[in-house]
Formats: sequence, C-alpha cells, structure tokens
Amino acid sequence: MIYLDNGATSLHKPQAVHRAVANALQRCANPGRGGHPASLEASRQVYACREEASKLFRCPAERIVMTTNCTHGLNIAINSLIPPDSRVVISGFEHNAVTRPLHARQVKIRVAGRRLFDWADTLESFEQALKSGADAAVFTHVSNVFGYILPVEQMAALCRHYGVPFILDAAQSAGVLPVNMEDLGAAYIAMPGHKGLLGPQGTGLLLCGRNPKPVLFGGTGSESFSQSMPAYLPDQLEAGTLNVPGIAGLAAGLHYIQDRGTENIFRQEHRAMARAAADLHALGFRPFTGEHQAATVSFVPEMDSEEAAQILAKQGVAVRAGLHCAPLAHESAGTLETGTVRISFGHDANPSQNAHFRRALTKIIPSGR
Ligand code: ALA
Repeated sequence: MIYLDNGATSLHKPQAVHRAVANALQRCANPGRGGHPASLEASRQVYACREEASKLFRCPAERIVMTTNCTHGLNIAINSLIPPDSRVVISGFEHNAVTRPLHARQVKIRVAGRRLFDWADTLESFEQALKSGADAAVFTHVSNVFGYILPVEQMAALCRHYGVPFILDAAQSAGVLPVNMEDLGAAYIAMPGHKGLLGPQGTGLLLCGRNPKPVLFGGTGSESFSQSMPAYLPDQLEAGTLNVPGIAGLAAGLHYIQDRGTENIFRQEHRAMARAAADLHALGFRPFTGEHQAATVSFVPEMDSEEAAQILAKQGVAVRAGLHCAPLAHESAGTLETGTVRISFGHDANPSQNAHFRRALTKIIPSGR
C-alpha cells in the first residue's frame, strides 16, 4: 500500500520508535509511583521525552505536558484561557478540535481570513478582528485539508501587539516546520505525537506559556496528602497513569526528527506534494495549490469524493476524502458540499509513491473526459 494519509496519522514510523515502545513495555512500570528500578526507568523515559521536545520547541521541559492527542491539549488550553462569553478570533481553516470546544463554551467566534494561500488577506482580516476587540485568538499553523501554511509568526506578533493571548494548533506542523514557543510567545501550543512527530497514537504534547486549569483530577504520585491537584506543572495536568510506551516511542520520534532536521523532512515531503499536484493538473484535475503550502494537497474529483478515495484504495493508494473534520476550512474554500480528496505525504515521501499515485489517478478520470 502507498500510504498518503499522513495528515491523519503517520503510519511508517522509524524503527527506533518501534524499539522504544517494545523496550518500555518490557522495562517500565508506573513513573513517579515507586522507588524501584522499573518505576525509575519509566520516569527517565518520560523525562527524556520532555527533554527532546524542549529542545525542538524551545519550551522549558517542565512546561511540556503529556496529552493523549492534540484535541486533548486544545481542550485544556481553551478551557484554561477562554471563559464563556469571550470574543475569540479564529482563522477560516480551523478543525473541529478547535471549533467544537469553542462552541461548547458558548463564546463569540469571529472568523478572520478565508482565502487559501493568501497571507495578505489572512493578516489583514486577522488584524481587523483583533483591532475591533478580542479576548483571545486560536489558529492553526497548517490547514489539515489544504496544507495552507498560515503566517503564524506574523499573527503571533499581531496578538502580542494588541495584547491578545493566543493558542496555536500545531497538529499538522509539529515535526516539519519551526514551532518555537520562545519566539511565538503563545499562551499554549497543542500538537499530536502521532503525526509529524512520528510517535504512537495516544500521544500528544501541550506547551504551556500560561498557568492552566486541569480538566482531569486524580493521582499524580505527588502531594498525595492534598485533595487539590498540585499547583505546578507538569503534575497539575497529568492525572492518572501516563502512556509510557507511547511516550518512549514519541521520544524516539522526536530524536529521529532532530537528527534528520525538520527542514530536510519538509523539503522531501514538499517535493512529493508538488509532484502530485503537477500530476493532478496534467491529468485534468484542479488541485488547490499555492505558495504557502505544506505536504498536503486536496482536489475535488468529478465523482463523489469518498467513492474516488475507494477507487484509489483499490489501486493500493491510501488517502482521506470528505470533510476531514474541518467543515469550516471547506466552507472557506467552497468545498463544503463536495468535500475533497486529500493526499498528504510524510517523512518517507519518495518518487515511487508519486509514480504509483499517478497511475492510480487515471482510474478516477471519468470515461467521457
Ligand atoms: N485531523 C486528522 C486529519 O486531518 C485526523 O485527518
């Protein structure tokens, strides 16, 4: 199978990740819950993961919280930063992981910047929205549907200028683009461990620039005499037993990425995306492409998008079709009715994937064309 669904999760993890998970399963007990070697080894593995993430994202290790996925981190961040009734600015490319928690908190949402790949429009609309009064902003780094890379450094600077705290959703960028907590000055940055960071599913990281509120309460292995959660990070947000095998795998993924260099990974993935977009054009499709694009490209086929994805799957190519849990992004691009077929490359992108994809594409060209 040619796996081109890395926007959903990375499937082909480095061997070091497999080894780290197996090793942790054999050797790690519960971290922070005992003085015996198996518990201490678990604590070391978790700490090693925080250290790797701290180097990559320029965030103090103790302010990096282990979550179960990006959605988990976004929920903590939104719950901590944004009280009900707040005025919140979001981009036109947000995922349900951002919009649903905001709707659940009954905040006033203003959508700013709906033109794909258009930094001038994104920045102008975003600044207008901040100027007219906002209590917080939440925005994605890269659209999971279209691969649009938003100008997050400039958006962060605007937030700092207008004194508006913000949350960054780095679901599609962590591991392939620079995400620097120190420079951005975000209140929170949430990311999954299982996509670009190449860790197992069930892992995620929340970088905390502010003092959060826990959404889960329970044992932490610290301050057990108290009925309140510890007031310090990361314990405050890490109730219950951690996913140590997953975290050990994530540490190995983070290490692999830093060894290879995120810019090298991005270059390789981007080349494959550009090749796929060119092939789509050559075969008469109209992919959504633009200057600021990551390794994801979407198109509307001349048949139902789910059906097209099924035909591609029968040809051995795995892609994702439909709304990708991001109806707002589809609304912005005018594809809410049809959905799109999405191709998303990963760290293992290579020319043979492109060749296979191009051959499979010929099977969804309508016979009359
Ligand atoms: N949010 C993930 C995707 O884009 C699951 O497919």
